[in-house]
Amino acid sequence: MDAVSAEGVRVIAIDGPAGSGKSTVARRLAERLGLEYLDTGAMYRSVAFAAMAREVDLADSEAVVELARTSDIRVEDTSVIVDGVDATTQIRGPEVTRSVSTVAAISGVREMLRVRQRAWVMERGGGVLEGRDIGTVVFPDADLKVYLSASAHVRAARRAGEVSALDYETVAADLAARDAADSSRQHDPLAQAPDAVHIDTTDLSVDEVVDDLIARLG
Ligand code: DC
Repeated sequence: MDAVSAEGVRVIAIDGPAGSGKSTVARRLAERLGLEYLDTGAMYRSVAFAAMAREVDLADSEAVVELARTSDIRVEDTSVIVDGVDATTQIRGPEVTRSVSTVAAISGVREMLRVRQRAWVMERGGGVLEGRDIGTVVFPDADLKVYLSASAHVRAARRAGEVSALDYETVAADLAARDAADSSRQHDPLAQAPDAVHIDTTDLSVDEVVDDLIARLG
């Protein structure tokens, strides 16, 4: 399949580690371009949530892949519904956050979600997608590939600001563990595509990043 080369389909791929600014940048860029935005991390989190809700052992990868295949996952702009249950808050909670890297390391899960992500784009004729492997694996022919990074301190501070129940040290440790797992896993690890634009967002505002990307789209 080469969904991205289909005529008229405009895809922007944004990858990077947690807290690098992907979601905020992707959402604003999509707004400015009149495209829809997909948070693919929320899809992996939804599978982890479904496993938790159904008490599926994450070591049973076949059962987790089956969940990725059959669960009704609706990732909207402000809500995430999994099998009819509003999981918006819980998918960001500590339990899902700690288990999601295990779920994302299962190749069958990635395969199932990749199919859904490509279908999402084809249904809309394009979109802005953010994740870890969008420019490298899901849409290697995207019109624009972006890799965002930021210092470990700034990334942890951003996440700690979002999750008020957790202190900075806990968030920083969890983030470092998740980055290591996401970057070293065997299947589709977090990586910068060779032709991706790399932007370090440590000292940049969201609008500065978005303006830069829009200028590159021409
Ligand atoms: O962006 P996030 O922190 O919500 O992502 C949650 C997890 O999902 C992250 O630890 C890695 C995984 N993920 C992935 O493997 N591939 C993607 N395209 C998006 C997320």
